[in-house]
Amino acid sequence: MSMIGLLQRARLGINGRGSARCNIHITSHTLSHSNPLGLPNFKPVDTRLPVKHTLPGVKDIILVSSCKGGVGKSTVSTNLAVALRNLDLNVGLLDADIFGPSIPKLMNLHGEPRLSDRGKLIPLQNYGIQTMSMGYLIPNEDSPIVWRGLMLQKALQQLIFDVDWNHLDVLVVDLPPGTGDIQITIGQMLKVSGAVIVSTSQDLALTDVKKGISMFNKVQIPIYGLVENMSVFVCPNCQHEERLFGDRGVLKEAKRLNIDYLGSIPLNPRICTSSDEGFPVAVDPNESLAKPYYEIAKSLIGKIKERA
Ligand SMILES: Nc1ncnc2c1ncn2[C@@H]1O[C@H](COP(=O)(O)OP(=O)(O)OP(=O)(O)O)[C@@H](O)[C@H]1O
Ligand SMILES: [Mg+2]
Ligand SMILES: [Zn+2]
Repeated sequence: MSMIGLLQRARLGINGRGSARCNIHITSHTLSHSNPLGLPNFKPVDTRLPVKHTLPGVKDIILVSSCKGGVGKSTVSTNLAVALRNLDLNVGLLDADIFGPSIPKLMNLHGEPRLSDRGKLIPLQNYGIQTMSMGYLIPNEDSPIVWRGLMLQKALQQLIFDVDWNHLDVLVVDLPPGTGDIQITIGQMLKVSGAVIVSTSQDLALTDVKKGISMFNKVQIPIYGLVENMSVFVCPNCQHEERLFGDRGVLKEAKRLNIDYLGSIPLNPRICTSSDEGFPVAVDPNESLAKPYYEIAKSLIGKIKERA
C-alpha cells in the first residue's frame, strides 16, 4: 500500500483488514435484505440521512402510542379512524405492530394485498378506511414472524413507504407498545403531525407515559394529548361507577405535564366484544359508546387545522 493510502486510512481511523471485512458484510446485507417483501420496482429509501419524509398521497400522520402494552391502543386507533372517516375525512390506518398485528382482526379484513402498477401495496379497505398491516402479508396468524435486525427495519420501511395510499387526509398509525426500535425508526423517518398517547390511570402505565413523552420530544414530534382508556366501569345492575384503574390519574398527569387531556373512554365489555367481532363501536355514530371516540376525533381535527 502506498504512503498516501496508509495516511488516509490512519486519518479515517480505519485498521485495514477489519474494516475491509466489515464493508463486504454491510454490502451483502443490503443486497439480500433490502426488499424482504419482494416488491417489484422497489427503490430503497436512503435512511442514512436524518431527513423526515412525507408520504405521497397523505396529508397528515397521527401516531397512536401507549408506552405500556395492552392499554387499548389498537382499539383506540381503530375507533378513532372510523370516527374521523364518519366526520368526512379520507382516512388510512397503518398497523405498525409488526410482531403483533391487530388491525386485520379489528377491521375484519384479511387476504393478501394486490400490487399497483407501480409495484406498491394496495391497501385493504373496510368501513371506508384504507388499511395496511403485516398481518396481511404473513400466511396465517399462527406462523411466527422472525424478522430480525435489518430484515425488520426493511420490512417496516416497506410498510411505511411502499403503500399506495389514495388521497388520505389523515393516516392513523397504530404503534406497538413501548419506546423501542419501531417507534424510534418511525419517529425519525416520518414527518408526523402529532402523537396521541393512550394510558389508563394506573400508576405503572403513567410512569411509562413519561418515557413516551421524552421519546417524542427527542424525535421532535408534537404531542396532541393523552387519552384515558378504561376510565370508569358502570355497573350494569346498580349503575354505580367504579374507577378500577385509579381516580383521574391521566387527567392529573396531563395537567402536571402541561399536555392536553383529549378525553376518556369507559371500560365496557361491549367495546371488547365488538372489537373481537371486527365491528368497532364507532361504526354506529348513534351508539353511546361511540361518543367519546367522536369527541376525541373532533378535537384532533381541530389540532391538525391549528398546526396547518
Ligand atoms: N374501553 C375498553 N373497554 C373494554 N375493553 C377494552 C377497552 N379498550 C380496549 N379493550 C380491550 O382490551 C384489550 C387490549 O386492547 P388493545 O389490543 O387495543 O390494546 P393495545 O394497547 O393495542 O395492546 P398491545 O400493547 O398488545 O398492542 C382488547 O381485548 C380490547 O378489546
Ligand atoms: Mg395493539
Ligand atoms: Zn352494582
